Amino acid sequence: MDYQKSADYIRSLAGYTPPKVGLILGSGLGALAESISSSIKVSYNELPGFSEPTVSGHDGQLILGTWSGVNIACLQGRSHLYEGHHIQRLTVPIRALKSVGCKVLVLTCAAGSLREEMRPGDLMLVTDHINWPGLSPLIGPNDDGIGPRFLDVSHAYDPTLREFARQTAENVGVILHEGVYIWCLGPNFETPAEIRAFRQIGADAVGMSIVPECLTAVHCGLKVLAISVVTNLAAGLQSDVSHAETLAIGKEAIPKIKLLLDRFMQLLGENLQ
Ligand code: HPA
Repeated sequence: MDYQKSADYIRSLAGYTPPKVGLILGSGLGALAESISSSIKVSYNELPGFSEPTVSGHDGQLILGTWSGVNIACLQGRSHLYEGHHIQRLTVPIRALKSVGCKVLVLTCAAGSLREEMRPGDLMLVTDHINWPGLSPLIGPNDDGIGPRFLDVSHAYDPTLREFARQTAENVGVILHEGVYIWCLGPNFETPAEIRAFRQIGADAVGMSIVPECLTAVHCGLKVLAISVVTNLAAGLQSDVSHAETLAIGKEAIPKIKLLLDRFMQLLGENLQ
């Protein structure tokens, strides 16, 4: 299996220490990796089964090191289903992170806001998701050694980690909205009619990532936390939407999300065995 080959490769790296936390950096958030100390960097093209991101704002390297004293494995850039990969391929990096020792997966992503009061530059803690394409990375034969065939996702975004994030936000004085993320396939942004419909079915933010990663992670026993950086109001709520804006606002939000993650990682370090 590719994820095992990648995990073996990662374990063989000089200076490797097992990571406890996996972190995936979304669009425009790659520079957060500067918070990682004493890092080892590996390009995705050295890791079997990993796909080189084709989207600007996604770097395509794995970074091992420490953040607030916690050993982490950071994926600087992700692959999206709209890039044309088979959905099962998106499981490889997540399962590799689990195989090398991670217990927790922190997902970050850019998202459009469906709520007027949740503004560009704000952060949203994902409490739950809607899988709009209805696609799962878990289709196909199930490996019972990894996780169950029929997965309970009633608590996909771990309640304890969410509580840590809330406490952290309060401690460092960052406003952390909470809401439901709706996954759209992309790569086109949504129509205003879609956004109006999504509001009716309970979505607060819209994006093109995290859901396949979250499902894979829960399946293999990783606890998941997800934070969206609001980069725009969704289609129809502002004049138009662009990837350039996603990257620019994502970059501007880096100091805020860094402040939150600095303290969050510390809290995780104190609470993870
Ligand atoms: N829609 C989908 N994905 C996004 C958006 C959006 O408005 N903003 C950032 N990622």
